[in-house]
Amino acid sequence: MTPFRHRHVLGIAGWTREDILQVLDLAETFREISERPIKKVPTLRGRTVVNLFLEPSTRTRTSFEIAAKRLSADTINISDSTSSTVKGETLLDTARNLQAMRPDVIVLRHSASGASAFIAQQVDAAVINAGDGLHEHPTQALLDCATIRKHKRPGATDLAGVTVAICGDIAHSRVARSDVLALCTLGAKVRVAAPRTMLPVGIEALGAEVHDRIEPAIAEADVVMMLRIQKERASGPGLFPNTREYSRYFGLGSRAAALLKEDAIIMHPGPINRGVEIDPAVADGPRSVILDQVTQGVAVRMALLYLVGGGFQEL
Ligand code: NCD
Repeated sequence: MTPFRHRHVLGIAGWTREDILQVLDLAETFREISERPIKKVPTLRGRTVVNLFLEPSTRTRTSFEIAAKRLSADTINISDSTSSTVKGETLLDTARNLQAMRPDVIVLRHSASGASAFIAQQVDAAVINAGDGLHEHPTQALLDCATIRKHKRPGATDLAGVTVAICGDIAHSRVARSDVLALCTLGAKVRVAAPRTMLPVGIEALGAEVHDRIEPAIAEADVVMMLRIQKERASGPGLFPNTREYSRYFGLGSRAAALLKEDAIIMHPGPINRGVEIDPAVADGPRSVILDQVTQGVAVRMALLYLVGGGFQEL
C-alpha cells in the first residue's frame, strides 16, 4: 500500500481525491473488524493515542477511543473538566507536557479555529483534528463520504453524479465546511441551503450551489444533510426570528420530506435537536442513515489512526 501523504489530519483543504479515497478504501477493509465477536486486531499495539477533548463531545470522542482500542493502541482520554486548562494552563503547555510522555497520536477538539494546526507545529506526535472552532471537522467529512458512497455509489470509487443538499447553519458549522470540500473533491454536486444570516461569505468559491430556501435545494437531491444551529458559535443579533419559524421554513419536517426523491437518504452529524432542524419521525424514519454514519465513523477513524499512527512501520 502507498504510504499516506499527510503526517497530520488537520483539514480537508489541501487534500486530493486520491488522499480521500485512500482513507475511504482502507476504512472499508476495517469495517468488518467491528462485526466480529472479538473486535480487535494487533495493528497499533504499543502505540499511544491521547484524546484531548476541550469541547463537549459524545460521538467523536467515543468513536476515536473505540477505533484506537480496536487497533490495540493504548488510549488516554482528557476532557475539559479533567484537564489542567481549568487551572489556567494554556493549550500549548498542555500539549508540550503530553508530548513529554511520548504519545504517537494526539486527537484534539478545541473551540479555537486553527488549534490543531498550531499544536501540530509544536509536538512530534501526529495530530488529528476532531473539530476546531468553526474551521474544519475532517474526520466527520470523511465518514460522511464513506456513508454516502456505501448507500449511493456502492462499488464505485468517487461520488460523481450524487447530489447532496446540506441544510442549516452553514456559516458556523465546521462540518459543512469540511463536507463541501470533501464532497466537491469527490465529484459530488453540492447545494447548501440556509437563511441568509447563516450563509458564509464565499461559500460558492468552494464549489457549492447556494440557496436561501430549503425546497429547491432538497428537490431531486440524493442525500439531504441537516445541521444543528451552532448556538455556541453564533454571536451578535439573532440569526432568525424564533425556533418555531426556523423549523417551519428550514427544518426537515414531514412537509419538506414529502418533496424528497423516494430513494434519498437523510443524514445528520449529531447531536440532533429534535423538532428544530429535523422532525423525530424523519430522523427515525426508513430513509435516515444517521446511525450508520456513527458506525462508519469508527471504521474511518481506524483508517486514519492506522495511516498517521504508524500502522505502516514495523515495530
Ligand atoms: C458536530 C461538531 O462537533 O461539529 N458534531 C459531531 O462531531 N458529530 C456537529 C455539531 O456539533 O452540531
